[in-house]
This record gives sequence, C-alpha cells and structure tokens, in this order.
Amino acid sequence: MATSAITSTKSSTGAKPVIRQSKPSDVKHVVALGKDTLKERWFSPMVLHSVLKWNPKTCWVLELDGWIIGARFVFDDKPRAWGWGVVIHPNFRRQGYGRMLFEETNKKLKKLGYRILLSEQNVKNRASVEWHEKVGFRKIAEIPKFHDGGETAALYCYQL
Ligand SMILES: CC(C)(COP(=O)(O)OP(=O)(O)OC[C@H]1O[C@@H](n2cnc3c(N)ncnc32)[C@H](O)[C@@H]1OP(=O)(O)O)[C@@H](O)C(=O)NCCC(=O)NCCS
Repeated sequence: MATSAITSTKSSTGAKPVIRQSKPSDVKHVVALGKDTLKERWFSPMVLHSVLKWNPKTCWVLELDGWIIGARFVFDDKPRAWGWGVVIHPNFRRQGYGRMLFEETNKKLKKLGYRILLSEQNVKNRASVEWHEKVGFRKIAEIPKFHDGGETAALYCYQL
C-alpha cells in the first residue's frame, strides 16, 4: 500500500509491528517515508535500489497493519555495518518505532557477524542527532562542509 496514503498515527487493529527483509518493490515507499527530511541525492530510488541489491540481508522494513511505516538500510563492510538510513513515517515518529527497528535489526546484524555500526549525520538534522545519541551511538568525528548545502557531518560509532 502506498505510504503517502497513511493518515493514522496508531495501528487501527492494535496489531504488533512486523520487521521483514526489504525487496525492490518497497523502495518507492521507503523514499516516501523520508521525503520531508532526507532530500539529498543519497536517499533517492536509484541509490536505495543499489544499496538493496548489494546488501539484501541488511535492509529491512517495518510494517504496521500491512503499511510500511519504517525502514533501515545498512551497507555491508564486515565486521562494520554502515547505516544508510533509519527512517520512520512522520505520523509514527516519537513512538519508539525507530529505536525498536534499530534494536531488533541489531540482533540480526550481530548474528550475521557484524560488530561495529558506523553512521554519518547532517548536524542540522536535530531529530537524527538526538536520536543517535539517545540510542547509544558515540560521536567520533565532525567533517565540515560535507553535505550538499555546506553543513557539517557528524560521524557516529556503535559497538554491537
Ligand atoms: C530519526 C528518526 C528515525 C527517529 O525515529 P523515531 O521513531 O521518531 O524515534 P524514537 O521514538 O525511537 O525516539 C527515541 C529517542 O530519540 C530521541 N528523539 C527522536 N526524535 C527526536 C526529535 N525529533 N527531537 C529530539 N529528540 C528526538 C528522543 O530522545 C527519543 O526518546 P523520547 O521520545 O522518549 O524522548 C525519525 O525522526 C525519522 O525518520 N526522521 C527522518 C529521517 C531521518 O532523518 N533519519 C535519520 C538519518 S538517516
């Protein structure tokens, strides 16, 4: 179902969210989840199709009542895993879904042999910065003028 058609902020049935591996037909929905925030070309259909093609075991979506409400795409560089995006539909943010998707898929990453997570964030994306710090990432560097708009990037590390 098209993510753009989501109007609710809760499950209509009280169902539990389900995490499953992503497939190519999800990509347009995943892009739509982040369209309010992730406007740079690295979060485009072309890039996400490529991430999914090369890393099919480490890309997941979070479904609620059959709707895709969240996603996590990760690059394989074992024992490192590079975060390419945790994204939650705007209606479902601040309800713990981002943390849940992160923690549940971390268990899968650990089983697959990953040990370190790396993630890069635009420091202007305050929600993402706060979220990274809250779920336990440690900031290891800042790179000035990294983003298209000249913003600084913060690099984060997390030990699985
Ligand atoms: C970043 C993002 C994934 C967080 O997902 P979420 O489901 O809303 O976050 P959670 O409910 O798991 O939040 C966990 C904690 O992170 C922090 N946090 C999350 N969003 C925040 C915000 N907008 N402002 C301040 N702190 C925030 C809070 O401490 C929160 O705990 P609390 O709600 O008990 O205070 C979500 O805001 C999002 O999809 N943003 C757009 C895409 C994006 O920028 N992704 C990250 C870069 S790839």
